[in-house]
Amino acid sequence: MPLRADYAHDLPAMLKAMGSGPGLFYICNPNNPTATLTPRKDIEDFIKQLPPNTYVLIDEAYHHFAVRAPGYESFLDHPVADERVFVARTFSKVYGMAGLRLGYAVGAADTIKRLDTEELYDDVNCVAAHCGALALEDAAEMLEAVERINGDRASFLAECDKRGIQYLPTAANFVMVYCGAVSREVRATMHAQGILIGRPFPPMDKWCRISFGTPEEMRVFWKAWDGMKDCLGDVTKS
Ligand SMILES: Cc1ncc(COP(=O)(O)O)c(C=O)c1O
Repeated sequence: MPLRADYAHDLPAMLKAMGSGPGLFYICNPNNPTATLTPRKDIEDFIKQLPPNTYVLIDEAYHHFAVRAPGYESFLDHPVADERVFVARTFSKVYGMAGLRLGYAVGAADTIKRLDTEELYDDVNCVAAHCGALALEDAAEMLEAVERINGDRASFLAECDKRGIQYLPTAANFVMVYCGAVSREVRATMHAQGILIGRPFPPMDKWCRISFGTPEEMRVFWKAWDGMKDCLGDVTKS
């Protein structure tokens, strides 16, 4: 379903589009690729209106970067009393372990049991499982990463503001930036300089998804961006 004008999930439209039988709703919050939030209250109201046998998977891959955002509240940290709701998390973001391919889902036992039929024979290797357990134990390191990345986010948005660049509000470790030109060209120009940015996300063809790097990486990014004026359109208005 298309997002609302404010880039939250359009929950009433999702309800309306629902067929008659049981099914599964997928809500990514904060959302990828827009990094925008759907308020907790709206999701709670949505859940109350669902027919029985209709499940809701809430993907909280970017949870750690959203904890202080107004209107956001995790469904894992603060569950609702509804067995149809379950939450997915990944070690690929704040823990920086994407190469190990590890994630998990939390929900009521009966709900999780229904996923068993889809389980792969060899889905989690023991090295990944061990690293994941250690990562969960090290809350201090995780919180340090959150602070660092939130700081990188604030610096990046300040640079956007300086240049009058339009961007979507972000509650993640990336931001959707308006580049006023087909993002494929911007991406190719960046790539030629060794900078990788998000793939195109139609229909947002003139937007680029930029993940925050270290301050030094972002200095290189802005140098490339500022040298790219010919390739960029009017970045102030979409
Ligand atoms: C919304 C969302 N969910 C889940 C993931 C899962 O990541 P992984 O497959 O690396 O665990 C990603 C990764 O990009 C994501 O953006």
